[in-house]
Amino acid sequence: MQRTLRIVLVDADPERRQQFKSLVAGLDNIWVEADCGRYHECLDLFTELRPDVVVVSLEEDLDLALDLIRELRSLSADVQIFATSSSDSSQYILQTMRAGANEYLTLPLNLDDLLQAMERARQMIAREQGDNPDQNKVVAFVGASGGVGCTTIATNLGVLLAQDRRFRPLLIDFDLVLGDADVHLDVVHDYTLYDVVENMLSLDFTLLKRAIVTHESGLQFLPNPSTAAEAAVIRPDDVRRLIGLLRSTHTHIILDLSKRLDSIDRAMIAIADLCVVVAQLNVSCVRNVTRVLKALEQEEQENILLVFNRIGSREVMYPMDKIQELVGRKADILVPNDWATFASAHEAGVPAVLHRPESRAVAAIEELAQLIEPALSAQKSERAKKRGWLSALLRG
Ligand SMILES: Nc1ncnc2c1ncn2[C@@H]1O[C@H](COP(=O)(O)OP(=O)(O)O)[C@@H](O)[C@H]1O
Ligand SMILES: [Mg+2]
Repeated sequence: MQRTLRIVLVDADPERRQQFKSLVAGLDNIWVEADCGRYHECLDLFTELRPDVVVVSLEEDLDLALDLIRELRSLSADVQIFATSSSDSSQYILQTMRAGANEYLTLPLNLDDLLQAMERARQMIAREQGDNPDQNKVVAFVGASGGVGCTTIATNLGVLLAQDRRFRPLLIDFDLVLGDADVHLDVVHDYTLYDVVENMLSLDFTLLKRAIVTHESGLQFLPNPSTAAEAAVIRPDDVRRLIGLLRSTHTHIILDLSKRLDSIDRAMIAIADLCVVVAQLNVSCVRNVTRVLKALEQEEQENILLVFNRIGSREVMYPMDKIQELVGRKADILVPNDWATFASAHEAGVPAVLHRPESRAVAAIEELAQLIEPALSAQKSERAKKRGWLSALLRG
């Protein structure tokens, strides 16, 4: 998937800003993250958002605009600076490029010119930063039946990733109608995925920032719509585009899908870099695993981790080797049944990885996290040491 370019736009004329936003609104890989009317505001936005591209209009005050371009260039050698102006005087162009701009576009803007400039910017950024697709991952959780532990494992995975400062994970509750990840995280929110999708065409950073809640662990979270009617208006195309945008702002995007395998679920399975299939060991669940794996195959999703949860509960029907034979693949992770840990974590409103980091169930979720993000290993070993020390103490 092509990298999304995040843009900050500065132009004193609100109408021209709107025209610019409308021009790029339908494009998948360009996102106006913020816009402003004053040159000094633009510097603040740049420092806060670190966009890929800053579009500076020279129309209002050429000297101030050139000062801004010089300032931006001194702050970052990498940022792509596009100047826009109604003048095509070579004197202007020369001055602007000398100040540090990468592109000079004449107004009124022509979409083709803008797209070509964006493509050049994308290539420059890829060359300078190294366009490593492994830098962000979309991980979709698919459950084989209700109550198997998808949300529990997805939220705990998110919290684990958030504890590592190098990562910026985001959990999205894609169980559109009945999702309860907000309860698992014990967070309150005013906006949901519905508000974001409703404003998709004019989506800016302010709105997205308002809709995304930050859990105390640092995990960012976008809740599911509040009503079934709101859930019904969400279209696969909108969420596909949204995930494309979020790939440029988050390192891990964790999707807690519904169990219906509907059009949204399937679209997300198709774009995910990895699917985690969660099941328990009872008969209906095991049968459903085959159905889920079939659906994944139809979406050409080959990166799959199979997790069996609540191992050791009374529900176990088949021995493990029989189950693996039935579903045609080996389980990647086995999470022990640990009612005490999850019930008390739920009651405390704190995810288990924070509430009982020493538990074996958390250790299994850590193992999963490490398969998804191998760079987590250093942190894990610290916790494992603690666990070893604690269990030695308990053993007396
Ligand atoms: N390994 C486990 N041991 C004990 N209880 C668990 C375990 N995993 C999940 N649970 C509990 O099972 C219930 C359903 O889990 P949840 O994550 O909401 O399922 P899903 O999202 O698949 O519907 C929750 O009350 C949760 O605390
Ligand atoms: Mg759930």
